[in-house]
Amino acid sequence: MQLLKDKLTEVRVLLDASFDKKLALPEGKEKRLVEAMRYSVIGGGKAFRAFLVLTVGEILGLKKEVALQIATALEMVHTYSLIHDDLPAMDNDTMRRGKPTNHIQFDEATAILAGDALLTNAFEVLSDPEMELDAEVRCQLINFLAQMAGKSGMCGGQMLDLIGEKESLSLEEITRLQTKKTGALLRFSVLAPAVAVKANETIQKALEKYAANIGLMFQMTDDILDIEGDEKLMGKTLGKDKTETKSTFITLLGLEETRQRAYQLCNEAKEAISLLGEKATLLLSACDFILERKN
Ligand code: IPE
Ligand code: IPE
Ligand code: MG
Ligand code: MG
Ligand code: MG
Repeated sequence: MQLLKDKLTEVRVLLDASFDKKLALPEGKEKRLVEAMRYSVIGGGKAFRAFLVLTVGEILGLKKEVALQIATALEMVHTYSLIHDDLPAMDNDTMRRGKPTNHIQFDEATAILAGDALLTNAFEVLSDPEMELDAEVRCQLINFLAQMAGKSGMCGGQMLDLIGEKESLSLEEITRLQTKKTGALLRFSVLAPAVAVKANETIQKALEKYAANIGLMFQMTDDILDIEGDEKLMGKTLGKDKTETKSTFITLLGLEETRQRAYQLCNEAKEAISLLGEKATLLLSACDFILERKN
């Protein structure tokens, strides 16, 4: 676990240097938009998705600079999803990553624009012709991220999440909700390096199963922590799912059964990548990290 924590710290530093470069402050009053983007992406968050891109990339022999470029684009999309998730029209949150949410620090319109620009500029990063990938693979990655972020991925999941505040959802619908809203971007983290190196089908299948399981586990833990986490460690207001009457696995199955299912998904995720052998140590720890995390 210490190895994984050290790696997360290393990735955070690399990511911040990358954001600093990609989001240099321009001249002129419109620099306020870039200030708002930098406010949310730099120094905040666990960088868990970037960690996955870099770690799977290393296992599959992807160049580190390319992996970092992919991770930068992905964390930009992830942060945009959080800025918009926190807006009054959505979860109406005032704290994120240990500080005021973007719309509290700036204002609602600026936060909407900062999210829009992070999403859009993520595709600028991913399509960068300087990146050492052939054009066809770059196109595949762009298509993949668009699918995982849009109507069939994160946004689709967020729609179900909002509907789930007003209606109770079935187990099948909650599974779909979580698979899309959180699972989709995690799926991209794990599979983008495989697309980039054109990994064989056996490896892709193994990583797909791993990604599907950790996607579900990740949101289950988030929902468990919303009930019993420590607000200071989490850096966000907790107890929100109940106030907002969200539909989660916990509302349907209860805490213990949800914990049990997450544990089972963890074992299956580990099993799925056994073919990677010793190279997969960090990915195995990542499963334990998701279950044990406190933030
Ligand atoms: C929070 O994601 C939103 C969910 C999908 C549960 P993270 O817990 O990865 O948030 P950061 O990036 O570390 O802030
Ligand atoms: C949000 O899930 C996941 C996104 C796709 C943004 P939550 O709404 O539970 O995330 P937190 O708890 O605000 O981080
Ligand atoms: Mg939400
Ligand atoms: Mg939220
Ligand atoms: Mg939550």
